[in-house]
Amino acid sequence: MKIKDIIILALLLAVITGCSEKKDPVEQKIDQLISQMTLKEKIGQMNQLTGIGMADDMTNAVRNGDVGSILNEIDAVTVNKLQKIAVEESRLKIPLIFARDVIHGYKTIFPIPLGQAASWNPAVAESGARVAAEEASSVGIRWTFAPMIDISRDPRWGRIAESCGEDPYLTSVIGAAMVKGFQGDTLSAPGSIAACAKHFVGYGASESGKDYNTTWIPELQLREVYFPPFQAAIEAGAATFMCSFNDINGVPASGSTFLNRQVLRKEWKYDGVLVSDWGSIEQMIPHGFCADLKEAGEKAAIAGVDIDMMGYAYINHLEELVKSGAVNEKLIDEAVRNILRLKFRLGLFENPYVKEQGRDAFYTESSLQKAKDAAIESVVLLKNDNDVLPLSNNIKSVAVVGPLSDSQADQLGTWCFDAEPEHSVTPLTAIRNDYGTQVRVIAEEGLTYSRDKNANGISKAVAAARNADVILFFAGEEAVLSGEARSRADISLPGKQMEMLAALKQTGKPVVMIVMAGRPLTIEKEVEMADAVLYAFHGGTMAGPALADLIFGKAIPSGKLPVTMPRMVGQVPVYYSHKMTGRPAQNITLIDDIEVGAKQTSIGFTSYHLDAGDSPLFPFGYGLSYTTFKYGDVKLSATALGMNDELTATCDITNTGNYTASEVVQLYIRDKVGSLVRPVKELKGFDKVQVEAGQTKTISFTITANDLAFWHEDMAKRPEAGDFTLWIATDSSSGTSVDFTLR
Ligand code: GLC
Repeated sequence: MKIKDIIILALLLAVITGCSEKKDPVEQKIDQLISQMTLKEKIGQMNQLTGIGMADDMTNAVRNGDVGSILNEIDAVTVNKLQKIAVEESRLKIPLIFARDVIHGYKTIFPIPLGQAASWNPAVAESGARVAAEEASSVGIRWTFAPMIDISRDPRWGRIAESCGEDPYLTSVIGAAMVKGFQGDTLSAPGSIAACAKHFVGYGASESGKDYNTTWIPELQLREVYFPPFQAAIEAGAATFMCSFNDINGVPASGSTFLNRQVLRKEWKYDGVLVSDWGSIEQMIPHGFCADLKEAGEKAAIAGVDIDMMGYAYINHLEELVKSGAVNEKLIDEAVRNILRLKFRLGLFENPYVKEQGRDAFYTESSLQKAKDAAIESVVLLKNDNDVLPLSNNIKSVAVVGPLSDSQADQLGTWCFDAEPEHSVTPLTAIRNDYGTQVRVIAEEGLTYSRDKNANGISKAVAAARNADVILFFAGEEAVLSGEARSRADISLPGKQMEMLAALKQTGKPVVMIVMAGRPLTIEKEVEMADAVLYAFHGGTMAGPALADLIFGKAIPSGKLPVTMPRMVGQVPVYYSHKMTGRPAQNITLIDDIEVGAKQTSIGFTSYHLDAGDSPLFPFGYGLSYTTFKYGDVKLSATALGMNDELTATCDITNTGNYTASEVVQLYIRDKVGSLVRPVKELKGFDKVQVEAGQTKTISFTITANDLAFWHEDMAKRPEAGDFTLWIATDSSSGTSVDFTLR
């Protein structure tokens, strides 16, 4: 062998050994641990059980290495005792992860995620998640099952409350902000908790809005609509993912190799943990996808689900499946690698214990202020006739009425297991405390809960209203009507609330309706009756003080709808980024305008509902202010955009009213002709800006060809040259447009 060859060989060897030495130290530690683990211990890491305190079976499971993570254990002392068993008494001393659903707050409850999305302010979402992380980690929780970033276009579905609404772009921005809030700058910091992008995927498309129902989503639509928020969550560093309960095109997510291996691992190169949903592996049996728990375990392991949450499929059958060769042990090693990597990233090997600090982290002044600020920004002003809001100084008395006026539990909304309603400040309490010296407060709820069908109390509320200058009617849904397994086929105001509003209206006094709900409700008639409408979703612990400040003008509404509000449930699904169809609605003749005896051909043949027309009650992105904003013409840096260029669109926004206020300026784009039919418009950017009264601000957006790309039938995403329309607008149904071409 020539000297030259020896030198090359030596160099090559150095590089190879150098590379192996340069392997990430954590990966090396994982390699080492896995090499020591028995198959049973590996499977133990893949098993997640609910926290049941120090029951013998849990301590034994931990000591024997049969459980890798525990959910719903929220007592710091118990957490440390279980952790001590894991890190001191189990054979390999692998720490546990403690997990909990901390969706929009642990103790200090923020608005439900749909409300946070209505703020169109990622800082609100990040701040809420950060407070939640600080409070939850103080009891030993280091993993939350949030953000829920399922695109939701069906308000019948109870879980729309947990979502960020109907749009992939807005959901991506808000979801990523929540990931950052939960995980902080360093995931291993004691106050950080692992986020979980859920539910992967398409759960919001559950047929008929019925929870857990089947979904049929073509791959192109998955890629175009449902995947983007999950990709954004990965870019934001989401440490974990969760499977969804639903089947997608006949395959339950927990058994989908397409979703969990092809897309998540191969295409997206994701190296985080994929956890099943609660029992979702076992539920592949009732799905009719698996004959028994053993087959469910086999299909889930092959599909790449790392952790079995409360399904007992892995712990009972994986060892046998591996020994029989049905499941390759390499797949088990991959899953365990992901789980151990998460534990290292959380710093649990170095710092497995939680500092037992009691309640010090809960309800700090700063947290409560952030919750109030979030609640203020999450409220959407839908109507304000004659500027009845904010209440002027000549208002000397208010009637505070309605089933949501003083309900500490209901204003918290769904998914807040650890909330303490006694800490909620209701609208009635806040108005009394903060404005009771300014106005006389007459309180009479009229209905005792949202579904109350006993109208006897309404007369008392009407009597109160007669003695007041203004009526503040707090309507909506109890929290229990929202969230998981809380789908409704009729999404109107429950109980006798409509009747109550009509009776209040009869007094002739101005009526302000404030709706607290977990979904868009069909309130067309109520909106007609009320003089002003604030849509507050379920606003959390500080919903009361937030609404009081908005009603009395100390704060100005800036929220915008993150989801379309239908006129009636028969319009669902109804969303702004719909397709034009071959017969877009025109010359609409509504059902009551059709002449008796009209001939079949007497009215048009275009796409709309005879009894609803073709527009929602309020469109996506809609929200008023106490001031007014004037949008100037949209100016483009060029009318043609090259594939590798940038185009800048600018617009002057003038505050033409009397209040300094914030406006969410929205950028929409339409691809006028494509090789596939394109939506009538798509949100491509937004900017929430504060503008002084009388001031003008120039808002700019930069567009590239990549912003115009879409998925094609060959499953490649790319832009197409052609003509486009661009809007810079205050909501999805208005604004001046300008055209440009992509060359
Ligand atoms: C529930 C939910 C999921 C939650 C999990 C653990 O059924 O679907 O979102 O994180 O179980 O509570």
